[in-house]
Amino acid sequence: MKEINIKLYDFLNCISDAVDLVSPILSNHHQKVAYLSYRLAEQLNIPEDRKFSVFIAALLHDVGSLSIQERLEIIEREPDYINIHAFNGYRLFREFSFFENEAKIIKYHHLPWNYGEGKTFDGEEVPFECHIIHLADRVSARIDVNNVLFQLRDIRKYVQKNKDKLFEPNIVDALLALSQKEYIWLDLASQFPIKNLPKDIPTPMLNIDDIISLSSVIAQIVDFRSKFTARHTAGVAQTASKLAELAGMTPYECKMMLVAGYLHDLGKLVIDPNIIDKPNGLNEFEVSKIRSHTYYTYQLLNRVPQFDEIKKWAAYHHEKINGNGYPFHLKGDELPLGSRVMAVADVFTAITEDRPYRVGMRYENAVKLLMSMVDDGSLDGDIVKILIENYHDINKVRIEAQEKAVVQYNRFLTGKKEQSLHKQAI
Ligand SMILES: [Fe+2]
Ligand SMILES: [Fe+2]
Ligand SMILES: [Fe+2]
Repeated sequence: MKEINIKLYDFLNCISDAVDLVSPILSNHHQKVAYLSYRLAEQLNIPEDRKFSVFIAALLHDVGSLSIQERLEIIEREPDYINIHAFNGYRLFREFSFFENEAKIIKYHHLPWNYGEGKTFDGEEVPFECHIIHLADRVSARIDVNNVLFQLRDIRKYVQKNKDKLFEPNIVDALLALSQKEYIWLDLASQFPIKNLPKDIPTPMLNIDDIISLSSVIAQIVDFRSKFTARHTAGVAQTASKLAELAGMTPYECKMMLVAGYLHDLGKLVIDPNIIDKPNGLNEFEVSKIRSHTYYTYQLLNRVPQFDEIKKWAAYHHEKINGNGYPFHLKGDELPLGSRVMAVADVFTAITEDRPYRVGMRYENAVKLLMSMVDDGSLDGDIVKILIENYHDINKVRIEAQEKAVVQYNRFLTGKKEQSLHKQAI
């Protein structure tokens, strides 16, 4: 198995695309803000490394917003307080060592300049880059892609009116200078604005351990949108990796399996959390929405060329051996071993985990159900056999992973220090 090293930049694109796919109204909000922030940073002549930090932070800035409704609201109007989604984004990304600076930038991306008061918050120094994203965010949200050049006069008026109030004066001047260059605005109005940036944005290369670490953060973004499945992905990832080991996959492949597990439901970001949160009784419309999620997992992971294998292991987890799964209707040998393992890990985790509205199945019922799914051609019989033979070991792995995830989820919701901070902010 060839080792995989990927450009952080490619991975970021895939995450921000996932977040922007949530609603067509968001129409590439992250891309636009990242594009404009980068151009502003260039105009302001800030050093290279900080220019990239502001770009990366902008590409992810609203990721901490968990509901679609909230996402639409924060784009449509200027929040009059330090928004919780900015703190949530900070909490998520500070866990990933490459993003220490970026997490801090995300934390204050809605802080008004307020005649210089925005240089600090609660005694903490606020990075200048926060104010770049703040202005880029507000301006991007105003852009009408069909009339962008005609709009420039209004945009100039808007930033001038808020100079020194909402926005840092030098950044306003930089925006005014950029407003003279039509191509910037035509880029912004294009479908994929960041494609028009220099190709050589030098983000670091990630090895498999870095990829695991970033994927586990992404898994939290997927899971924390729903209180019902807030620890599902963590369970699937660890179960899949353990099952892969028992099925004879190499230690490196088991690490890849962990990544695939963390990313298997990435496409769920595209689905309204109210549907995911429904305990049972989905109607036809809701089922049709759910059935799209693995398609999006596939398309999003497709953006990282080195993820070819991981993409299949992740995105085929609702395919069935008999070809009756979705969305590709692959069957038999068309499904690689990793995909079969993932399918079993997903079902096993889903049926055995406790959810707020029901207790998970215990050994006997779980085994009965898994066996029936082998009989009807849904799951791979060999993998289910391995699972049953090692049931208690694998179940222990799942439980431990999910206990850890619950601690993370609770910390995410009620982190003490942060909570006192956001209380003050609100
Ligand atoms: Fe925001
Ligand atoms: Fe935003
Ligand atoms: Fe799924």
